[in-house]
Amino acid sequence: MDHDFWTSRWTERKISFHEGEPNALLVKHFARLDLKPGSRIFVPLCGKSRDLGWLLAHGHRVVGIELSEIAVTELFEELGVSPAIEPIGDFTCYAHGSIAVFVGDFFKLTDAHPGPVDAVYDRAALVALPDAMRRDYAPHLIGLTAAAPQLLVSFDYDQATMEGPPFSVPGAEIERMYGDRYVVELLESAPISGRLAQKCSGAEETWLLSPK
Ligand SMILES: C[S@@+](CC[C@H](N)C(=O)[O-])C[C@H]1O[C@@H](n2cnc3c(N)ncnc32)[C@H](O)[C@@H]1O
Repeated sequence: MDHDFWTSRWTERKISFHEGEPNALLVKHFARLDLKPGSRIFVPLCGKSRDLGWLLAHGHRVVGIELSEIAVTELFEELGVSPAIEPIGDFTCYAHGSIAVFVGDFFKLTDAHPGPVDAVYDRAALVALPDAMRRDYAPHLIGLTAAAPQLLVSFDYDQATMEGPPFSVPGAEIERMYGDRYVVELLESAPISGRLAQKCSGAEETWLLSPK
């Protein structure tokens, strides 16, 4: 999944991953992170997700990273605010009030960019990446966030039935990637629903990763 793949998804508006509402699993399970108001949540590969507005509305601070400038421009338009836009190294940072989003490549971020964070929310980020990239993603995310607690939404389906993205990331792989640093707890497993259910069957899973 190179940069051109995602850039064209945004220019050609092939963004079926984008939900018009805050993600139902975020809303249902976010409290399990047990965060204080004003906590700083890191959202990798954030797109223009409505989840960012939901986190802000619940009194948290948000820092995101997203490759597509189109996505980030639309995110701030939809939030109804005009961000300050500043180049920072390889990135452009869009910021307003309690939200900052870096436009650029997640894999080039250093921990100086997000700064200290209290939690990570991963929906459609890990599963957006093919196997080889996932192997780099997890340790990089752990390094960037000092293994902050994480709420993770993933899919488990027979990869032979669909090419991806989203890719299947079964529980055993999540345990392999994160188990050294986190207690990995499955909060919910439900049949894949919505448009994706027309392409494959399997489970949508919600995980709580608690630092060891
Ligand atoms: C499947 S979408 C999910 C977006 C968002 N999390 C959501 O729930 O709507 C994956 C996003 O990751 C972005 N992306 C892919 N590779 C990236 C990278 N290396 N660095 C930053 N963003 C990336 C894409 O542009 C795309 O918006």
